[in-house]
Amino acid sequence: MDKKLTLSGIRNMKANGERIACLTAYDAGFAQILDQAGVDIMLVGDSLGMVVQGKESTLPVTIDEMVYHTRCVSQGNSHAFILADMPFMSYATPEQAVSNAGRLMKEGAAHGVKLEGGREIIPTVSRLSHAGIPVCAHLGLLPQSVNKYGGYRVQGRDPEQALSIIEDANALETAGADMLVLECVPRSLTEQIMDVVTIPVIGIGAGGNCNGQVLVLYDMLGITQHKLPRFVHNFLSDADSISAAIVAYVQAVKQGTFPQQEHGYD
Ligand code: KIV
Repeated sequence: MDKKLTLSGIRNMKANGERIACLTAYDAGFAQILDQAGVDIMLVGDSLGMVVQGKESTLPVTIDEMVYHTRCVSQGNSHAFILADMPFMSYATPEQAVSNAGRLMKEGAAHGVKLEGGREIIPTVSRLSHAGIPVCAHLGLLPQSVNKYGGYRVQGRDPEQALSIIEDANALETAGADMLVLECVPRSLTEQIMDVVTIPVIGIGAGGNCNGQVLVLYDMLGITQHKLPRFVHNFLSDADSISAAIVAYVQAVKQGTFPQQEHGYD
């Protein structure tokens, strides 16, 4: 791959049935390895609060920290589309969201931003979209709401909640979301969401039929020490280097051999 992947390139991948390989990245060194391995989207996830900073959740991560890590990742990247997470309380109003997303794009050189939430963030998504900022929505398990859930749990298991997530997905696309990350939901709900949205859907614990997959880099390399969710596979355990593990992940996503049945929820 010689060219930088753009939003229209990502849309074309979906249209052509090519699966999108996405991984989190937090620094230039790993970004270079991911780039060379052919990762399509690097997500500068606010998961850095847990895996890099050792915090208990993603909530303490600040916009300054996200800008710093996004800039580091951009330095190591040549081809991938860089998505930067908007951290907790950095998009409480549409005005605040535009200002902070602007920093991630101008200072961090992100190509787009990701934010968690459903219909309650529609005015924000719409404002970002009108400002020319590519937006990735995030539904299902929302790690920034962990204190409301009381833990990290599969979402959308009961019919009422499932319907609400489907309506959220529809509304977010209508408001201008360009992509959707779907985290930790039953496979059947993913299928229903894929039927109502036209934007690319990137799954994490959402089954194998999404348009792409994402994992937290430190989880799929076996660096994370605490108990991991069932949707994680350690790609380094069968590879002889970090680069080979990332290449194996990209190939597995592209060929549809990851995730397997055991990585999903019924
Ligand atoms: O912050 C993050 O790494 C994420 C992924 C879990 C999708 O949002």
